[in-house]
Amino acid sequence: MGQTSRVKNTALQRKIMPVEAAVELITPGSTVGMSGFTGSGYPKVVPQTLASRMETRNKAGNPFRLRIWTGASTGPELDGALAKADGIEFRLPYNSDPIAREKINSGKMEYFDMHLSQVAPMAWQGFLGELDTALIEITGITEDGLLIPSSSVGNNKTWLDRAKNIILEVNAWQNEALEGIHDIYYGTALPPNRVPIPLTRPDDRIGQSYFKVDPEKVKAIVLTDSPDRNLPFAAPDEVALRIAGHLIEFFEHEVKRGRLPEHLLPLQSGVGNIANAVLTGLNGSRFENLTAYTEVIQDGMVDMLNSGKMRLASATSFSLSPEAATLMNQNMAFYRDKMILRPQEISNHPELVRRLGCIAMNGLIEADIYGNVNSTHVMGSRIQNGIGGSGDFARNAYVSIFMTPSIAKGGKISAIVPQASHVDHISQDVQVIVTEQGLADLRGLSPKQKAEKIIENCAHPDYQPLLRDYYKRAREHSYGQQSPCLPSEALSWHQRFIETGSMLP
Ligand code: COA
Repeated sequence: MGQTSRVKNTALQRKIMPVEAAVELITPGSTVGMSGFTGSGYPKVVPQTLASRMETRNKAGNPFRLRIWTGASTGPELDGALAKADGIEFRLPYNSDPIAREKINSGKMEYFDMHLSQVAPMAWQGFLGELDTALIEITGITEDGLLIPSSSVGNNKTWLDRAKNIILEVNAWQNEALEGIHDIYYGTALPPNRVPIPLTRPDDRIGQSYFKVDPEKVKAIVLTDSPDRNLPFAAPDEVALRIAGHLIEFFEHEVKRGRLPEHLLPLQSGVGNIANAVLTGLNGSRFENLTAYTEVIQDGMVDMLNSGKMRLASATSFSLSPEAATLMNQNMAFYRDKMILRPQEISNHPELVRRLGCIAMNGLIEADIYGNVNSTHVMGSRIQNGIGGSGDFARNAYVSIFMTPSIAKGGKISAIVPQASHVDHISQDVQVIVTEQGLADLRGLSPKQKAEKIIENCAHPDYQPLLRDYYKRAREHSYGQQSPCLPSEALSWHQRFIETGSMLP
């Protein structure tokens, strides 16, 4: 009864049905745009029922596979369950589920890894094909038939507008105090009709609190009561805290030199443990009155809102550990005027990132001595997650920072290599690299100057002699001297790792 009361519109109440009936509306081979962004606001019940149906059919040799679009990564009930059932034929735009990752890397699933700000515009431009069904988790439906968004916004507005049919999951677990936290902007258009987006401060609200929906397209409403499920963050270790320390020192230095204002600029913090640890470090720093214009709100940012260090965070989604998600969900009313959740084409919009002057802080897999960054591919061919929003922010930020431990896998891998095995962020988009060893400010440097700084400031001592030796020989024997390189040797570290399990000789 409590759950039914979340659907206040009488016409839409008639669309409430059991999950088994709703699943019947999704046909094999079709494209489904689902809600969900980093373990928040994804549909939880329909995908699981779908997965068991797929498993039965796939085992019987009667394939049931779908093309799945989302906001970004989701939870195990969606990506994990569907991938396990071999039910995903094609996936965009971001994934961090281990089962789906394995399917992609073994060649069983096609994956289109995209800049997250570009998903909605590309869907409207028609490049992604038709969208058959939108499957969207919401918090409730108003009397007027407007949809109260859930704990992520992602691409939901676009999926609801573009899909032929809509299935809604109304999740009673989501706190009703979420109503009013969202800012859904309906003013985007395609060229030549685009106009400036009227947002000049992270606090600006430029849209409305609800999604509009054509009630004729709503074919099913399923009532659920399930928590968002994210992985816990690792407690910040010594390495993460040292990275945070270098960054805070850098910010202090930039403020002193008048290159950053006293309250810094809106922070963008990427996904992962290191990014979260940096926020923990900032929470202990002297900086006050900070803001965030970012993609996800992680535990570290919630701590900063709690302590008052941060006064406002604008994002498209929460990306919280299970404990933080429960706590935040229980105390949503406290956070409502301190947070804004927007569509991802707005949270990550290059125009807005450039206008606001965001400080972009993202993780990386490896960087080369010239400052090209690989965020996505281990040893050049195995996808880890995807580029996510890192490119949206890195290219357009006021200062674009990439951070990483200097070594991975217990020292068998150096994060600083002669040549990146895959490049997501070209050196022009990478202004600062920071590891626990130190920080390299690359702004205004030539490639050779960058190489010397990265090797000396960021590389692990075990790898520094190898990098210095490579660079010295490249200076002596390279075909050109702008970015000296020995092509036949540049990727030999990766080859050695593949063959022996270590980059060390
Ligand atoms: N070679 C091989 N593996 C590496 C590696 C390297 N150079 N560097 C890291 N890894 C592995 C780690 O060992 C770990 O593997 P495990 O899960 O088997 O233990 C995994 O990659 C994650 O590394 P971790 O050190 O825990 O980093 P993280 O949680 O900070 O994540 C990225 C780092 C790059 C994977 C993550 O930041 C990412 O996905 N970035 C792209 C998307 C993005 O930036 N989004 C933010 C935009 S808002």
